Amino acid sequence: MKIKNPKMSGVKKDGLKPKQSRRDFMKTAWKGLGIIAGIEFTGLTLHYLVDRKDSDENEKLFEAGLVTQFPNKSVTPFRNGHFYLVRLEDGGFIAMSIKCSHLGCSIMWDEKKNEFICPCHSSKFSLTGEVINPPAPRPLDIYEIKIKDGKLFINLNKKKSEVSLKNLNSLMFSN
Ligand code: FES
Repeated sequence: MKIKNPKMSGVKKDGLKPKQSRRDFMKTAWKGLGIIAGIEFTGLTLHYLVDRKDSDENEKLFEAGLVTQFPNKSVTPFRNGHFYLVRLEDGGFIAMSIKCSHLGCSIMWDEKKNEFICPCHSSKFSLTGEVINPPAPRPLDIYEIKIKDGKLFINLNKKKSEVSLKNLNSLMFSN
């Protein structure tokens, strides 16, 4: 009868294969980690896609009215929407938050001075929402505007925190 050499077959007396089983264990571990990484990646991708879908669904559109009902160089307050709709001289629109960027008091439009004034600590803002007088630390928040069928819709869930001449052009819409 032929007796097998345990070292040649890699089998110990206790039936384990020490070198083989360690290697197998590492292979299995790496496979497991690969699967986990794949699941994580898929999860992150789905999360990103769902978030994008949610952000579209979470639009809070406020119907401000027809584009044609707002004359150029006008400021219209929308108290129930908490924003001012500014129509610039060239026909462009800006929708800006009524809240002061300092501590959130409601700003007021001063037509004679052509500026927004905060009654709480006297901050002043230009027609385009930029700070003229501190303590306001930054421009007024502005909202995304959409035009559909000749009507203006203000997305109250999408704020842009800065108004600069550079990005102003992209925010303006002409009729
Ligand atoms: S809250 Fe407007 S200046 Fe302070």
